[in-house]
Amino acid sequence: MSEELKYHKGQLIEGHEFDGIRELDNPPPPWLMYIFYISVLFSIAYWIYYHMTDAGPSQEDEFNQEMAVVAKADAQRVAEMPPAATTASTDPADLEAGKALFMEKACFACHGMAGEGNAIGPNLTDTFWIHSCDFTEVIKVIKNGVPEKGMTPYKDQLNQKQTEQLASYLMGLVGTNPANAKESQGNECK
Ligand code: HEC
Repeated sequence: MSEELKYHKGQLIEGHEFDGIRELDNPPPPWLMYIFYISVLFSIAYWIYYHMTDAGPSQEDEFNQEMAVVAKADAQRVAEMPPAATTASTDPADLEAGKALFMEKACFACHGMAGEGNAIGPNLTDTFWIHSCDFTEVIKVIKNGVPEKGMTPYKDQLNQKQTEQLASYLMGLVGTNPANAKESQGNECK
């Protein structure tokens, strides 16, 4: 071993000196080794807990648990949803919202600004109805439309609440007798 090596903290690995090029044994610092040992121990414990004994949940179990939580929350949300209204609302806020939707969704284009009807759509202010004056039937017409007669289905554009507000507004139009009202169509319903 050469003189200068004595001052080096590493040991020369036996037989690892060639042409003056030496390989020294420099062990990694203890803190690094501890991390290494701990991770080996951790991996053994992990393997026993999750794989050998199946004590811990697998990824699939965790996924199913999370999905069960979501499904439960969803079922609760549906259960808490208010039932579909069967009668028209008379709440001014609903009627106001219905009127706004009548404009926003351009119902007026075929039914007139005041619901008086025009060349395309029927008068919605008289007591005659082509389909039915029943609130829930009016809702169905708005949702499903009458495509073969030119009435657009709105179920993709309006939620239940909005459809109810709109139908309530229409029920309130009956008897308003606007100017230029279109002649009545359908059957009278009082
Ligand atoms: C593209 C034209 C058009 C638009 C837009 C339109 N409608 Fe109609 N609507 C019609 C036509 C045409 C009829 C008649 C259908 C029939 O003869 O069966 C009708 C029928 C109806 C009826 C049934 C009337 C009855 O006498 O039974 C209701 C209610 C109604 N529309 C509401 C609405 C609402 C609310 C909107 C806006 C969200 C709307 N409509 C937008 C054309 C339209």
